Amino acid sequence: MSENINPLTIEEVAEECRNCKKCPLYLARTTVVPGEGNSKAKVLFIGEAPGEDEDLQGKPFVGKAGQLLTKILQSIDIKREDIFITNMVKCRPPANRTPSKSEIDTCYPYLETQIALINPKIIVTLGNVPTQYLLETTQGITTLRGQWQDWIGKIKIFPMFHPSYLLRNEGTFPGSPKELTWKDVKTLKKAMAGL
Ligand code: URA
Ligand code: SF4
Repeated sequence: MSENINPLTIEEVAEECRNCKKCPLYLARTTVVPGEGNSKAKVLFIGEAPGEDEDLQGKPFVGKAGQLLTKILQSIDIKREDIFITNMVKCRPPANRTPSKSEIDTCYPYLETQIALINPKIIVTLGNVPTQYLLETTQGITTLRGQWQDWIGKIKIFPMFHPSYLLRNEGTFPGSPKELTWKDVKTLKKAMAGL
């Protein structure tokens, strides 16, 4: 007997996204980026929206920021296949603008279903957009990063800087975004070891 009471599978959600025209972001997209990874992952990473490379390839976090994210994960021995990675919206906003509240609201049921199916223990929100939306706060990532937040059910949210922000702030000095991120991934690694 299946334990899964949700009628959809991760691949069926992805297929729904690929056919979706519910918000205006469908107009300029090349491909939809539903997300990818281990559908039984204990940790789910959520970014903002696909960028140019993601829009061309249909995969999340494959451009410069994505390569940095992959490196950050490797530094704590996490492979991308161990986790699931997706975004708040599944289609690229024109010129990489921030997705609007209404676009995120429209797309959110897909993410909600993904979260229900994956049932992660930890959600890592990357940057302000997913952090503020999911936690329903106006507090910024600089304040919230590295701080565990109770969320729905037993899921904990762990906000971290977005890798694009790290690319724009490359320096390493005490309290730099890079140094703080290094601290955060070590915290994350420890928490994952205890899951
Ligand atoms: N930035 C994001 O937020 N998501 C991606 O998939 C790529 C870059
Ligand atoms: Fe549909 Fe989400 Fe793409 Fe908008 S961003 S068209 S809601 S899949």
